[in-house]
Amino acid sequence: LFAKECDFFWGAEAATTLPEAVLPEICFAGRSNVGKSSLVNALTGRKTLARTSQTPGRTQQLNFFNLGNRLVMVDMPGYGYAQVSKERSAAWVDFIKSYLRGRVTLKRALVLVDARHGLKPHDVDMMKMMDQTAVGYQIVLTKADTLKPGAIDKIRAQVAVALKTHGAAHPEVLATSAETGLGIPELRGFLTRMAEP
Ligand code: GTP
Ligand code: MG
Repeated sequence: LFAKECDFFWGAEAATTLPEAVLPEICFAGRSNVGKSSLVNALTGRKTLARTSQTPGRTQQLNFFNLGNRLVMVDMPGYGYAQVSKERSAAWVDFIKSYLRGRVTLKRALVLVDARHGLKPHDVDMMKMMDQTAVGYQIVLTKADTLKPGAIDKIRAQVAVALKTHGAAHPEVLATSAETGLGIPELRGFLTRMAEP
């Protein structure tokens, strides 16, 4: 699957401008700056496919990437960014909720969590939203290159405990690094399985 072409094909800023739901879809959610766009790039081996930035809030829309006409990856705007107004963040929640609830082709959501910080209240809010909208999800730890293996295992265990109270959560927690490529082959394998009919 990852030997094939991957192209950006759509950006949506509102529920009314989503592309037609045709292929199986996986979305990448997570706090601003957690590394969603970097992970999409690492998976496809293309450094500049999804725009990344040191400034949180870089990705402002749902960005849709077509992987070999078999799977769609959706890079979501980050949440938990303090500089966003109340009105905008309420509109954001409505948009994301309606996407999650209505997207018939959405197979799984990946909730990215910075391995240095573990689960934060905004992550738990997102998990609750996914429980409510019945979207199956799992946690992917990012920036694992910044920690020693022992510290990663500790975070992984903490996250696994927290997941037990969430109905739609899958228990596996994968540690990844867009810098070193840790966990990338595993994630590619997972996405390839998700693309199967
Ligand atoms: P928003 O679009 O603002 O929500 O952010 P994002 O989640 O898409 O994050 P992005 O991929 O833009 O990365 C944010 C910052 O984290 C950038 O400075 C990246 O270089 C850095 N970063 C991303 N992945 C890794 C990683 O695996 N390791 C390290 N050390 N840094 C990373
Ligand atoms: Mg981004």
